[in-house]
Amino acid sequence: MSGDPRLEVLQRRMEEFYRRPELRQAYQEFVDQREALDHPFERALAAYLERYRSVLEIGCGSGRLYRTLRRAGYAGHYTGIEIAEDVIERCRRRHPEAEWKVAGAYAIPEGDPEACFSYGVLESFVYPRKALEEMARAVRRDLVLLFPDFIESGHLGSQQTGVTPARHKRRPLDVLVGWYDRKLRLPRALRSARRRLGPFIINLAPVALDHPQPPEPDYDAVYLSCKADIEDWAAARGERVEYPLGRTLPRALRARSWAFAVVRKSVT
Ligand SMILES: C[S@@+](CC[C@H](N)C(=O)[O-])C[C@H]1O[C@@H](n2cnc3c(N)ncnc32)[C@H](O)[C@@H]1O
Repeated sequence: MSGDPRLEVLQRRMEEFYRRPELRQAYQEFVDQREALDHPFERALAAYLERYRSVLEIGCGSGRLYRTLRRAGYAGHYTGIEIAEDVIERCRRRHPEAEWKVAGAYAIPEGDPEACFSYGVLESFVYPRKALEEMARAVRRDLVLLFPDFIESGHLGSQQTGVTPARHKRRPLDVLVGWYDRKLRLPRALRSARRRLGPFIINLAPVALDHPQPPEPDYDAVYLSCKADIEDWAAARGERVEYPLGRTLPRALRARSWAFAVVRKSVT
């Protein structure tokens, strides 16, 4: 897709990670634990989406956010797409009233949703620009994107820190090196990354690929998602990015390092 063989290998490996049930199981259980939290950030997303008559969710996983939307009273048309076939099959059985499709963000099936949204998915894209272009093509109005801002926060769960990747197995020296990496080395490297490397930076070796267990937040992130990239990308298209809950999110949402961005397509 890019001609860069390193990205092509990474893309193949990530697809396999998400698609193969035996590789995915621990990851899916980890993501699904959030459902029990009834998280305020996710409730804020549901409240925001109420304004659209139809929404398309990119990377819907087990349908967790579909359930959040319905609990919040969302009455519009919902379609969820996801690359893991078995996960979509379970969504279809559990929620036959909604639309579920096995498809990826680089080739979104035809439809006519008012908006698309993705929650914790942007950072999974090896080709984020391509996915954004495709989302913009597929919707009538808005792209609602919720993602961690790794550059501003200085945290990146997919970057190995310390000597041993599995934190629970660490020895004292490793704990110290890990602490140094997470608190000093990594934040400094992340904050200068765009200046050194440009936009849309990809981590070619996310921890998830070589150490799939136990999962930790964002251990599968390949794209170093950040608000600045989305702002520049939208500006180059003559489009606006809005932050309905503020560019820095309120503490009460318990998502300080995340972004809640809405790209409004300019209608000609
Ligand atoms: C962290 S999970 C989030 C799932 C769901 N949004 C949630 O919060 O429960 C990321 C999801 O993105 C999906 N994904 C990864 N690459 C994708 C792609 N190219 N197109 C669509 N979905 C993708 C993965 O299979 C995974 O289900």
